[in-house]
Amino acid sequence: MNTSVLSTDLPQEMKHAVDEAVRLLAAGDVVALPTETVYGLAADALNAEAVAKIFAAKERPSFDPLIVHLPHKKDLDTVADVPEGIVPVIKKLTERFWPGPLTIVLPKKPCVPDIVTSGLPTVAVRASQNLVFNRVARTLDKPLAAPSANRFGSISPTSAAAVKMELDGRIPLILDGGACHHGLESTIIKVEPAAPKPLITILRPGPITPEDLKVFGRVQLASKSKDKPEVPGQLPSHYAPRTPLRIIERPSDFIPEHGKTYALLSYRGEESDGYLGLHEWKAMHILSPGKGKLPEAAVRFFYALRQLDQAGADEIIAEPVAERGLGIAIMDRLKRAASKA
Ligand code: TXA
Ligand code: MG
Repeated sequence: MNTSVLSTDLPQEMKHAVDEAVRLLAAGDVVALPTETVYGLAADALNAEAVAKIFAAKERPSFDPLIVHLPHKKDLDTVADVPEGIVPVIKKLTERFWPGPLTIVLPKKPCVPDIVTSGLPTVAVRASQNLVFNRVARTLDKPLAAPSANRFGSISPTSAAAVKMELDGRIPLILDGGACHHGLESTIIKVEPAAPKPLITILRPGPITPEDLKVFGRVQLASKSKDKPEVPGQLPSHYAPRTPLRIIERPSDFIPEHGKTYALLSYRGEESDGYLGLHEWKAMHILSPGKGKLPEAAVRFFYALRQLDQAGADEIIAEPVAERGLGIAIMDRLKRAASKA
């Protein structure tokens, strides 16, 4: 299969690209689309055969459910049943964060095929803020199932070029909407009624931080100690480069082996942090030069990881970022990239 990439820069290009994407999606095919988080591989969420093509292209195991993206936030009722006890808090959360990078897990409506939810009684829902994604979703006027547009377990794509690298020859079309605004996947939450405040559990940390959520309820991070992860896709090893990756907590912990080559993923690129001078790095990427801004680091993170993976080093050494706010989501991805389990 030939994979086309269509630009959306000029109004004429945008119209042509959206028309092509809608034509393919309406015919039950898959299309890679930009979102504000990472690129997604989309299909009509209510068409089980179309959704099966997502799993095939990604080589994704069928136990890993997909996120459903609504054309408009008011469409929530078409795919999910909001339990009575959490109607007010869900209304507040969607009013505040949709369209945007917040995914909410809710009881599913029967129209959502089992293949989308891997047989779970719940569905993960969000509404994307990306202009290109919205034009496609709203023209098609159907919910779109879309996981990140990478091979299963691999690094999430934040550009059309990265999608092409991951899925070339496996999908018919990629719409190029430029670099993704956030660069990390959406925050996934579940919400339970509780007194005095609803309980919000973060199943996957992301651009909407615990701090952002805490005005809406009591916020907790999903416990990692549970034997079975609550999010099946949250396997310890995920977002993994082919090159082994190690997080070095303190520069003094790094002792290079003779004859081995290393690449450095630096947070701030500051001499004073102590990582730069440790070694003759084969390649280096700095996530946020200077002061270390977490949003900037998030945007560059998957891009940098992908570049370093291609540098041909024996190992990637990663500096930790500050584990607060958006840093929680970055460290979540970094730890999974480092895990071999
Ligand atoms: O930002 C994003 O969320 C991107 C863009 C494309 O929207 N999508 C994304 O999808 O990251 P994916 O498939 O790579 O990750 C979706 C995660 C998986 O870990 C999956 O297990 C979890 O959502 N998930 C889906 N349905 C769920 C459910 N019913 N209950 C719990 N977790 C669920
Ligand atoms: Mg993914």
